[in-house]
Amino acid sequence: MSAKPPVLVTGGAGFIGSNFVLDWVRNRDDGVINLDALTYAGNLENLAGISANPKHTFIKGSIGDRELVRDILTKYRPKAVVNFAAESHVDRSIHDPSAFIQTNVVGTYHLLEAVAEYWNDCEADERAEFRFLHVSTDEVYGSLDENSPAFTEDSRYEPNSPYSASKAASDHLVRAYHHTYGLPTLTTNCSNNYGPYHFPEKLIPLCIHNALKGTALPIYGDGRQIRDWLYVLDHCRAIRRVLDAGQVGQTYNIGGRAEMANIDVVKTLCRILDERRPRADGKSYSAQITFVADRPGHDRRYAIDAAKMERELGWTPEETFISGLRKTVEWYLNNENWVRNVTSGNYRNWMEANYGARQ
Ligand code: NAD
Ligand code: TYD
Repeated sequence: MSAKPPVLVTGGAGFIGSNFVLDWVRNRDDGVINLDALTYAGNLENLAGISANPKHTFIKGSIGDRELVRDILTKYRPKAVVNFAAESHVDRSIHDPSAFIQTNVVGTYHLLEAVAEYWNDCEADERAEFRFLHVSTDEVYGSLDENSPAFTEDSRYEPNSPYSASKAASDHLVRAYHHTYGLPTLTTNCSNNYGPYHFPEKLIPLCIHNALKGTALPIYGDGRQIRDWLYVLDHCRAIRRVLDAGQVGQTYNIGGRAEMANIDVVKTLCRILDERRPRADGKSYSAQITFVADRPGHDRRYAIDAAKMERELGWTPEETFISGLRKTVEWYLNNENWVRNVTSGNYRNWMEANYGARQ
């Protein structure tokens, strides 16, 4: 570990968190402490490339374990906490919201308590430098009509799924700890990410996995639901920028300027796979597209207005949807072992629970 104070990342063995940790180690001299409970979504294999790197320290544990978090804070004295730890899959939240309430609401509360206590005990210079950055989602704003303007930082919170409601609750707690106790917080609300290490329960990695396996590419409902897509490393760079230059107490919307209907996302993906790994029978992977029963309460459209990030922090995404998707497909084609390992065991039970009744 370097002499400079490190950052504490929570949930750094998950999809975005591990990309952030790897990116941090590549780009920064200061160290990173990584606290992750290693749920089904956390995977130390994501961090294998830095397992011997002295800039990275991994600790297995929960953000809800206040004693543990307090010990970590007093031992390592981080200059910032970046909170990725969460339950993150909407469909799982529909099947059973309890883990979402425990981690996203109660866990964030315990984390805030431990961090506020640490920050209060810091010396004046440490207190002034310290930041708590909470990573959230555009889903807290609810669903947009086709022609409505994109979400801004002033849009109303109207969460519709147990996942987005639990994230909204955590955002409100973060806001309250700033207003009530003065904790120097920053909140980011980002659109749908995609890229390496994405667990194959979410649309893009699921469809890559199923396409190569020769099974159905399941499209919920009519497939005309719209999401804004951002390549994960663009998100990681945005978070570093907010950490460095964001104004305390502020919220920043982060997006990819890439609104797409789900069916078009999957068709684009099929075209890239047709080029890179053609099917043995010469047909397109799009022949595997299968419309299935819709997600209950399915939000129709998300769109992010990231003008504040651009104007105040000079951040814009570097990848287009096509360039990011090509990189993503390349990563999955080169990492079939990773996919094999994460799709063994409990993964099959989840697939049966979510898709068994939809066909
Ligand atoms: P993920 O499900 O891939 O990873 C979550 C990580 O948190 C896992 O490593 C898991 O082990 C860990 N974790 C869960 N409960 C924990 C606990 N109690 N204590 C410590 N660690 C715990 O999620 P992701 O897609 O990487 O999302 C990370 C964050 O970004 C989440 O807060 C999510 O709401 C937010 N976000 C995600 C997206 C997206 O498209 N994936 C978009 C916007 C915002
Ligand atoms: P997902 O990747 O689960 O992210 P989120 O629900 O957080 O936006 O889903 C992206 C979109 O794809 C969403 O509109 C639901 C849809 N979807 C399908 O059509 N089929 C699937 O099998 C999955 C997992 C998602």
